[in-house]
Amino acid sequence: MITDFEKLKNECEKCRNCELFKTRTNVVFGKGNPNAKVMFIGEGPGENEDLKGEPFIGRGGVLLDKYLSSIDLDRNKNIYIANIVKCRPPKNRDPLPAEQEECIKWLREQVKIIKPKIIVCLGRVAAQRLISPDFKVTVEHGKFFEKGGILFMGTFHPAALLRNPNNKPAALEDFLSLRDKLNTL
Ligand code: URA
Repeated sequence: MITDFEKLKNECEKCRNCELFKTRTNVVFGKGNPNAKVMFIGEGPGENEDLKGEPFIGRGGVLLDKYLSSIDLDRNKNIYIANIVKCRPPKNRDPLPAEQEECIKWLREQVKIIKPKIIVCLGRVAAQRLISPDFKVTVEHGKFFEKGGILFMGTFHPAALLRNPNNKPAALEDFLSLRDKLNTL
């Protein structure tokens, strides 16, 4: 039987709603358990993700998996990972507001089906889009914000942690707060 989630994925993989379809190798729809309580949302696929069709599989993804496993989360078991835009922006530039606006429709449909209790925004682009347009990761990381029955939290993007390892302890604190919050749900 084809589930609604698989139907959505099939539709999304044919998307030509913005110019990014012209330069993509693969649509990166998302990865994980569609029954998960927690979703992690990044910005958009990079080169490795575009080539393989999976989110966060480069060096940043390896780091993300370490933080996840420190609180017993695993992309193959109990979380779902996706991005604000599903196609790689050329040269990894920030996705344009119009591209985000178009693509976030797919994410909204994913959220409707998954019905997560918590959404963790990885980095500025996701946090500004999903939490608040003036969100500052360095100031507001690790805090929970309730919106429409879902708790949102912003934390450092794994690529930013690779560039600036000084923020790694703060990122670990955010993951520990996430674990505590999950234990209360
Ligand atoms: N960076 C992101 O924001 N998402 C990915 O999937 C990979 C890198």
